[in-house]
Amino acid sequence: MFANFKNKLCGVVALLALLATATVFADDPPPTPEELVKIKAANGECLTCHSEAGLKKPPKEGLDLKKLRHYLVDLDTYTASDHGQMACSKCHGDGYDKHPHDAKAKEGLSECQDCHARKAMRIERQFDKSVHAENLSDSFTCTTCHDAHVMTLASKLRDPHKIVAQDNKICLDCHDSDLAFAKIAPEKKKRPPIDDIHSWLPNTRLHWQAVRCIECHTPAEDKLSLSHEIQNKDKAEKKCATCHSANTSLNARLYRHLAKEEQNKYGFLNSVILSNSYVVGATRNPSLDWIVIGLFVATVVGVIGHGLVRIITTRMRRSKNHD
Ligand code: HEC
Ligand code: HEC
Ligand code: HEC
Ligand code: HEC
Ligand code: HEC
Ligand code: HEC
Ligand code: HEC
Repeated sequence: MFANFKNKLCGVVALLALLATATVFADDPPPTPEELVKIKAANGECLTCHSEAGLKKPPKEGLDLKKLRHYLVDLDTYTASDHGQMACSKCHGDGYDKHPHDAKAKEGLSECQDCHARKAMRIERQFDKSVHAENLSDSFTCTTCHDAHVMTLASKLRDPHKIVAQDNKICLDCHDSDLAFAKIAPEKKKRPPIDDIHSWLPNTRLHWQAVRCIECHTPAEDKLSLSHEIQNKDKAEKKCATCHSANTSLNARLYRHLAKEEQNKYGFLNSVILSNSYVVGATRNPSLDWIVIGLFVATVVGVIGHGLVRIITTRMRRSKNHD
């Protein structure tokens, strides 16, 4: 009877100890103002070296500055990010208060799954089916895309241009760079130039600024949050009308964080899109469409006209030179 009670007590004590040592979970309450002051001070310690200022004026001699140069964390970007209120040590563990750092310190790095168990389970299931996980299983992980010091949720950024810039940077940093691509691609696989692949899309560079790669490369049915399943290229979206139509799919995706709040302000959804970036065909106002198409045609005619004038003037100049 007593033994049984002791066992139970041990169990409770073990559980309490486990809870006390566990890291912060993503659904824990945010830090109190007092805690935040302590966190900022502790992070400031790390940044005495890991910042531009630290690199210029290191607080200690004999540091490996060549390495440190690649290891800087920008305080403003960090503070604005999803993890901006966290202590560096929550993810980086112990061993970083020694200089040079403990060789073993690296091993203490927490993974996304440690703190985001529930969310990560859903996302991992999608990611496992993606082309990257299937073709590059050993090397491609969550942190290949996610910089834990930088990323900010789309619902916090809200401005479609900022969301697109953040999310496309991830893909373009690799798919638009031979060096980065070769680091992770199977041997001999050449990087297909990103604009050539999408040559059927007019003005690709403008599209990269206005719309996300994942808009076309993830399953369309996943409306609540974007899926992490980057699909095979033959499943990618090619129909212009998916975006350029009255019920554009972008309302449920890229523009959804705007729609909710600003709907009331503007009265109807399409004006939200209108005020940010005009998507041809996405309004219910055909005459506006014609104006934009007219402008587009005028631009093309302008460019061709400019070319013609140049050709004529160079010809004239050449024939003058011959005289
Ligand atoms: C006195 C300067 C200094 C301070 C303070 C400092 N670091 Fe470093 N850190 C360095 C230098 C120099 C390097 C590169 C050389 C190396 O790898 O040891 C580095 C490398 C790192 C690396 C990458 C290499 C690895 O082992 O993973 C991480 C991560 C890191 N530091 C985290 C931290 C954290 C977290 C803090 C605060 C708790 C911190 N550092 C405080 C100087 C410092
Ligand atoms: C939410 C978790 C998390 C927090 C909080 C965090 N880091 Fe990191 N940090 C990581 C991960 C994950 C990596 C490894 C990235 C990789 O493998 O490429 C990393 C890498 C680093 C590196 C190595 C350089 C690099 O880019 O690979 C340095 C230096 C570093 N962190 C410093 C800091 C400092 C300083 C803070 C606090 C201001 C901090 N980190 C807060 C997760 C975090
Ligand atoms: C040590 C614990 C820890 C680790 C490791 C960690 N996070 Fe977080 N994460 C948090 C906390 C705490 C928050 C703040 C929760 C909030 O603001 O709602 C957060 C917030 C977030 C958010 C925004 C809110 C949400 O729940 O979606 C995202 C996205 C996120 N983390 C992604 C990641 C990714 C990706 C990784 C791996 C690179 C990672 N985290 C690693 C603790 C962690
Ligand atoms: C191919 C690049 C890529 C990989 C790999 C990746 N992510 Fe993401 N992740 C993104 C992009 C882009 C977004 C922003 C999409 C959005 O706004 O919903 C995002 C958003 C998130 C979010 C916030 C949105 C949400 O659905 O809650 C979390 C959390 C997250 N990722 C966790 C993870 C985890 C965990 C892994 C590893 C199993 C992972 N990611 C792997 C690119 C990636
Ligand atoms: C660190 C590099 C890297 C990042 C980041 C990255 N990719 Fe990839 N991606 C690759 C490599 C390498 C391949 C080729 C894999 C193979 O087939 O061997 C690939 C393949 C693909 C494919 C082709 C699938 C097919 O059918 O051939 C698509 C589509 C794709 N990536 C989209 C994306 C999108 C969208 C993002 C951003 C959310 C992204 N990638 C981020 C490296 C990357
Ligand atoms: C408007 C929709 C759309 C957008 C936006 C888009 N893609 Fe694609 N992508 C496609 C389609 C459709 C294909 C298949 C093309 C084909 O087979 O002719 C494709 C093919 C690819 C491939 C396969 C290349 C190959 O042949 O091996 C990669 C990699 C890729 N896209 C990456 C990206 C990246 C990175 C971005 C963002 C910068 C992006 N895509 C934006 C629709 C899109
Ligand atoms: C995934 C959504 C999406 C798809 C699919 C898509 N577009 Fe777009 N497109 C956009 C967005 C968003 C803009 C707005 C750009 C801006 O004005 O900021 C745009 C802009 C344009 C423009 C205006 C470019 C300029 O120079 O002003 C043209 C033309 C265009 N798209 C044609 C097409 C054609 C043709 C297709 C099919 C082959 C297509 N788009 C497929 C989202 C998409």
